[in-house]
Amino acid sequence: MDLGLRDRVYLVTGGSRGLGLAVAELLTAEGARVVITGRSDTVADTAASLGDGTTAVGLVADNADADAADRVVGTALRHFGRLDGALISVGGPPVGTAMDVQDEVWRDSFESTFLGALRIAKATARALKNGGSIAFVLSSSVRAPIPGLAVSNGLRPGLAMLAKTLTDELGRSGITVNGLLPAYINTGRQKELATLTGGKAPENALQRPGEPTEFARAAVFLLSPAAAYLTGVMLPVDGGALRVI
Ligand SMILES: NC(=O)c1ccc[n+]([C@@H]2O[C@H](COP(=O)([O-])OP(=O)(O)OC[C@H]3O[C@@H](n4cnc5c(N)ncnc54)[C@H](OP(=O)(O)O)[C@@H]3O)[C@@H](O)[C@H]2O)c1
Repeated sequence: MDLGLRDRVYLVTGGSRGLGLAVAELLTAEGARVVITGRSDTVADTAASLGDGTTAVGLVADNADADAADRVVGTALRHFGRLDGALISVGGPPVGTAMDVQDEVWRDSFESTFLGALRIAKATARALKNGGSIAFVLSSSVRAPIPGLAVSNGLRPGLAMLAKTLTDELGRSGITVNGLLPAYINTGRQKELATLTGGKAPENALQRPGEPTEFARAAVFLLSPAAAYLTGVMLPVDGGALRVI
Protein backbone atom coordinates (compact mmCIF):
# COMPACT_ATOMS: atom_id res chain seq x y z
CA MET A 1 0.00 0.00 0.00
CA ASP A 2 1.32 3.44 -0.92
CA LEU A 3 0.84 5.74 2.07
CA GLY A 4 1.00 8.79 -0.22
CA LEU A 5 3.65 10.56 1.84
CA ARG A 6 6.11 11.57 -0.89
CA ASP A 7 7.03 15.27 -0.65
CA ARG A 8 4.55 15.96 2.12
CA VAL A 9 5.78 18.02 5.08
CA TYR A 10 5.22 17.24 8.77
CA LEU A 11 6.13 18.76 12.10
CA VAL A 12 7.32 16.35 14.76
CA THR A 13 7.64 18.05 18.14
CA GLY A 14 9.67 16.12 20.69
CA GLY A 15 11.28 14.62 17.59
CA SER A 16 14.90 14.47 18.69
CA ARG A 17 14.60 11.17 20.57
CA GLY A 18 12.20 8.37 21.41
CA LEU A 19 8.81 8.02 19.77
CA GLY A 20 9.02 11.34 17.90
CA LEU A 21 12.38 10.48 16.36
CA ALA A 22 11.14 7.05 15.26
CA VAL A 23 8.20 8.73 13.52
CA ALA A 24 10.47 11.32 11.86
CA GLU A 25 12.75 8.52 10.63
CA LEU A 26 9.87 6.62 9.09
CA LEU A 27 8.26 9.72 7.56
CA THR A 28 11.52 10.63 5.82
CA ALA A 29 12.08 7.01 4.76
CA GLU A 30 8.64 7.22 3.08
CA GLY A 31 9.65 10.34 1.15
CA ALA A 32 8.20 13.03 3.43
CA ARG A 33 10.08 16.02 4.83
CA VAL A 34 10.03 17.00 8.48
CA VAL A 35 10.74 19.74 10.99
CA ILE A 36 11.74 18.11 14.27
CA THR A 37 11.98 19.89 17.61
CA GLY A 38 13.51 19.36 21.03
CA ARG A 39 14.94 21.60 23.74
CA SER A 40 18.57 20.64 23.15
CA ASP A 41 20.65 22.11 20.31
CA THR A 42 21.64 18.55 19.32
CA VAL A 43 18.33 18.52 17.41
CA ALA A 44 20.08 20.08 14.38
CA ASP A 45 22.56 17.18 14.15
CA THR A 46 19.75 14.69 14.58
CA ALA A 47 17.85 16.32 11.71
CA ALA A 48 20.94 16.20 9.51
CA SER A 49 21.15 12.44 10.07
CA LEU A 50 17.64 11.88 8.66
CA GLY A 51 16.93 11.10 5.02
CA ASP A 52 19.43 12.50 2.54
CA GLY A 53 20.44 15.38 4.83
CA THR A 54 18.09 17.89 3.18
CA THR A 55 14.79 16.32 4.12
CA ALA A 56 14.76 17.37 7.79
CA VAL A 57 15.25 20.59 9.71
CA GLY A 58 15.95 20.67 13.44
CA LEU A 59 14.58 23.51 15.55
CA VAL A 60 15.28 24.15 19.22
CA ALA A 61 11.85 24.79 20.69
CA ASP A 62 10.22 24.05 24.02
CA ASN A 63 6.53 23.16 23.67
CA ALA A 64 5.92 25.10 26.88
CA ASP A 65 7.00 28.39 25.29
CA ALA A 66 4.18 30.58 24.02
CA ASP A 67 5.97 31.33 20.73
CA ALA A 68 7.01 27.73 19.96
CA ALA A 69 3.92 26.94 17.88
CA ASP A 70 4.31 29.85 15.47
CA ARG A 71 8.08 29.29 15.23
CA VAL A 72 7.80 25.64 14.30
CA VAL A 73 4.98 26.15 11.78
CA GLY A 74 6.81 29.17 10.31
CA THR A 75 9.98 27.11 9.93
CA ALA A 76 8.14 24.44 7.94
CA LEU A 77 6.49 26.99 5.64
CA ARG A 78 9.69 28.97 5.07
CA HIS A 79 11.90 25.95 4.54
CA PHE A 80 9.62 23.59 2.63
CA GLY A 81 6.81 25.89 1.40
CA ARG A 82 3.96 23.76 2.69
CA LEU A 83 2.62 21.84 5.69
CA ASP A 84 0.61 18.61 5.69
CA GLY A 85 0.43 17.61 9.33
CA ALA A 86 1.96 17.31 12.77
CA LEU A 87 2.85 14.68 15.32
CA ILE A 88 2.69 16.46 18.68
CA SER A 89 4.92 14.75 21.21
CA VAL A 90 6.74 16.08 24.28
CA GLY A 91 8.65 14.71 27.26
CA GLY A 92 6.64 12.64 29.71
CA PRO A 93 5.15 14.38 32.77
CA PRO A 94 6.99 13.98 36.10
CA VAL A 95 6.42 10.91 38.25
CA GLY A 96 4.41 11.35 41.47
CA THR A 97 1.22 10.46 43.27
CA ALA A 98 -1.86 12.67 43.41
CA MET A 99 -1.19 13.18 47.12
CA ASP A 100 2.39 14.33 46.59
CA VAL A 101 2.66 16.35 43.35
CA GLN A 102 3.06 20.07 44.10
CA ASP A 103 1.02 22.82 42.41
CA GLU A 104 4.07 24.17 40.59
CA VAL A 105 4.67 20.78 38.94
CA TRP A 106 1.06 20.67 37.78
CA ARG A 107 1.35 24.18 36.31
CA ASP A 108 4.61 23.42 34.46
CA SER A 109 3.24 20.15 33.12
CA PHE A 110 0.04 21.83 31.98
CA GLU A 111 2.09 24.36 30.01
CA SER A 112 4.24 21.80 28.17
CA THR A 113 1.92 18.78 27.93
CA PHE A 114 -1.48 20.40 27.51
CA LEU A 115 -1.42 24.07 26.51
CA GLY A 116 1.73 23.69 24.41
CA ALA A 117 0.13 20.83 22.48
CA LEU A 118 -3.07 22.83 21.93
CA ARG A 119 -1.14 25.85 20.65
CA ILE A 120 0.84 23.69 18.21
CA ALA A 121 -2.33 21.98 17.00
CA LYS A 122 -4.03 25.36 16.41
CA ALA A 123 -1.07 26.89 14.58
CA THR A 124 -0.73 23.73 12.48
CA ALA A 125 -4.44 23.64 11.66
CA ARG A 126 -4.35 27.24 10.41
CA ALA A 127 -1.61 26.26 7.93
CA LEU A 128 -3.17 22.96 6.78
CA LYS A 129 -5.24 22.39 3.69
CA ASN A 130 -7.88 19.75 3.01
CA GLY A 131 -6.24 16.35 3.69
CA GLY A 132 -4.04 17.60 6.54
CA SER A 133 -3.61 15.46 9.63
CA ILE A 134 -2.75 16.10 13.29
CA ALA A 135 -1.82 13.33 15.73
CA PHE A 136 -1.28 13.78 19.47
CA VAL A 137 1.06 11.41 21.31
CA LEU A 138 -0.88 10.73 24.51
CA SER A 139 -0.71 7.65 26.74
CA SER A 140 -2.70 4.63 27.86
CA SER A 141 -3.49 6.89 30.87
CA VAL A 142 -6.22 8.39 28.65
CA ARG A 143 -8.25 5.24 29.38
CA ALA A 144 -6.81 3.81 32.62
CA PRO A 145 -4.74 5.41 35.40
CA ILE A 146 -1.08 4.45 35.65
CA PRO A 147 0.02 4.09 39.29
CA GLY A 148 2.55 6.78 40.25
CA LEU A 149 1.86 8.95 37.20
CA ALA A 150 -0.81 11.26 38.61
CA VAL A 151 0.09 14.15 36.31
CA SER A 152 -0.24 12.01 33.20
CA ASN A 153 -3.50 10.54 34.55
CA GLY A 154 -4.80 14.03 35.23
CA LEU A 155 -3.85 15.76 31.98
CA ARG A 156 -3.97 13.14 29.21
CA PRO A 157 -7.70 12.32 29.30
CA GLY A 158 -8.52 16.02 28.99
CA LEU A 159 -6.13 16.37 26.10
CA ALA A 160 -7.73 13.38 24.39
CA MET A 161 -11.16 15.02 24.68
CA LEU A 162 -9.66 18.25 23.37
CA ALA A 163 -8.31 16.31 20.37
CA LYS A 164 -11.81 14.93 19.85
CA THR A 165 -13.17 18.48 20.03
CA LEU A 166 -10.71 19.59 17.36
CA THR A 167 -11.82 16.59 15.28
CA ASP A 168 -15.27 18.16 15.07
CA GLU A 169 -14.06 21.72 14.61
CA LEU A 170 -11.60 20.88 11.82
CA GLY A 171 -13.46 18.07 10.07
CA ARG A 172 -15.38 20.42 7.80
CA SER A 173 -12.01 21.66 6.48
CA GLY A 174 -10.99 18.09 5.64
CA ILE A 175 -8.43 17.94 8.47
CA THR A 176 -8.20 14.79 10.59
CA VAL A 177 -7.25 14.76 14.29
CA ASN A 178 -6.30 11.57 16.13
CA GLY A 179 -4.48 10.42 19.24
CA LEU A 180 -1.99 7.63 19.94
CA LEU A 181 -1.99 5.89 23.31
CA PRO A 182 1.41 4.24 23.76
CA ALA A 183 2.47 1.99 26.63
CA TYR A 184 5.66 0.01 27.20
CA ILE A 185 7.50 1.27 24.11
CA ASN A 186 11.29 0.97 24.57
CA THR A 187 12.51 4.58 24.77
CA GLY A 188 14.52 6.67 27.23
CA ARG A 189 11.29 7.67 28.95
CA GLN A 190 10.29 4.05 29.36
CA LYS A 191 13.65 3.23 30.96
CA GLU A 192 13.07 6.05 33.47
CA LEU A 193 9.65 4.59 34.30
CA ALA A 194 11.06 1.08 34.77
CA THR A 195 11.89 2.24 38.31
CA LEU A 196 8.13 2.39 38.94
CA THR A 197 7.48 -1.15 37.75
CA GLY A 198 10.64 -2.62 39.26
CA GLY A 199 11.73 -3.72 35.77
CA LYS A 200 8.93 -6.33 35.54
CA ALA A 201 7.87 -7.66 32.12
CA PRO A 202 5.11 -5.51 30.59
CA GLU A 203 1.65 -6.48 31.73
CA ASN A 204 0.24 -6.71 28.22
CA ALA A 205 -1.16 -9.47 26.06
CA LEU A 206 2.05 -9.85 24.05
CA GLN A 207 4.18 -9.93 27.24
CA ARG A 208 6.93 -7.85 25.68
CA PRO A 209 7.78 -4.20 25.27
CA GLY A 210 7.17 -2.51 21.94
CA GLU A 211 9.85 -0.99 19.75
CA PRO A 212 9.75 2.67 18.67
CA THR A 213 9.52 1.53 15.03
CA GLU A 214 6.34 -0.41 15.88
CA PHE A 215 4.84 2.76 17.34
CA ALA A 216 6.05 4.76 14.33
CA ARG A 217 4.27 2.52 11.81
CA ALA A 218 0.93 3.17 13.53
CA ALA A 219 1.57 6.91 13.85
CA VAL A 220 2.79 7.37 10.27
CA PHE A 221 -0.26 5.54 8.94
CA LEU A 222 -2.57 7.86 10.93
CA LEU A 223 -0.73 10.91 9.59
CA SER A 224 -0.80 9.72 6.00
CA PRO A 225 -3.37 10.28 3.24
CA ALA A 226 -3.99 6.51 3.39
CA ALA A 227 -5.85 7.13 6.67
CA ALA A 228 -7.97 9.98 5.28
CA TYR A 229 -11.28 8.60 6.65
CA LEU A 230 -9.93 8.02 10.19
CA THR A 231 -10.52 10.90 12.55
CA GLY A 232 -11.30 11.17 16.26
CA VAL A 233 -9.57 7.83 16.84
CA MET A 234 -7.64 7.20 20.07
CA LEU A 235 -5.41 4.30 19.04
CA PRO A 236 -3.68 2.24 21.75
CA VAL A 237 -0.20 1.06 20.76
CA ASP A 238 0.38 -1.00 23.87
CA GLY A 239 0.68 -4.70 23.03
CA GLY A 240 -2.83 -5.21 24.40
CA ALA A 241 -2.14 -3.69 27.83
CA LEU A 242 -5.40 -1.76 28.18
CA ARG A 243 -8.20 -3.81 29.76
CA VAL A 244 -10.90 -1.73 28.08
CA ILE A 245 -12.00 -1.60 24.44
N1 LIG B 1 7.43 5.29 25.58
C1 LIG B 1 6.24 4.90 26.00
O1 LIG B 1 5.94 3.70 26.09
C2 LIG B 1 5.20 5.92 26.40
C3 LIG B 1 4.07 5.46 27.10
C4 LIG B 1 3.08 6.38 27.45
C5 LIG B 1 3.21 7.71 27.10
N2 LIG B 1 4.34 8.11 26.43
C6 LIG B 1 4.43 9.53 26.14
O2 LIG B 1 4.90 9.76 24.84
C7 LIG B 1 5.69 10.96 24.82
C8 LIG B 1 7.02 10.66 24.16
O3 LIG B 1 7.64 9.65 24.93
P1 LIG B 1 9.09 9.09 24.56
O4 LIG B 1 9.11 7.72 25.11
O5 LIG B 1 9.40 9.34 23.13
O6 LIG B 1 10.00 10.06 25.49
P2 LIG B 1 11.56 10.41 25.34
O7 LIG B 1 12.31 9.26 24.82
O8 LIG B 1 11.92 10.99 26.68
O9 LIG B 1 11.59 11.59 24.23
C9 LIG B 1 10.98 12.82 24.50
C10 LIG B 1 11.29 13.79 23.36
O10 LIG B 1 10.62 15.02 23.61
C11 LIG B 1 11.57 16.09 23.69
N3 LIG B 1 11.06 17.02 24.69
C12 LIG B 1 10.96 16.86 26.02
N4 LIG B 1 10.38 17.93 26.58
C13 LIG B 1 10.09 18.80 25.58
C14 LIG B 1 9.50 20.07 25.51
N5 LIG B 1 9.05 20.68 26.62
N6 LIG B 1 9.37 20.66 24.31
C15 LIG B 1 9.81 20.06 23.17
N7 LIG B 1 10.38 18.84 23.18
C16 LIG B 1 10.53 18.22 24.37
C17 LIG B 1 12.88 15.41 24.07
O11 LIG B 1 14.02 16.17 23.68
P3 LIG B 1 14.68 17.25 24.70
O12 LIG B 1 14.79 16.58 26.03
O13 LIG B 1 15.99 17.59 24.06
O14 LIG B 1 13.74 18.41 24.72
C18 LIG B 1 12.77 14.15 23.22
O15 LIG B 1 13.03 14.42 21.87
C19 LIG B 1 5.82 11.42 26.28
O16 LIG B 1 4.91 12.46 26.51
C20 LIG B 1 5.45 10.19 27.07
O17 LIG B 1 4.88 10.47 28.32
C21 LIG B 1 5.33 7.27 26.07
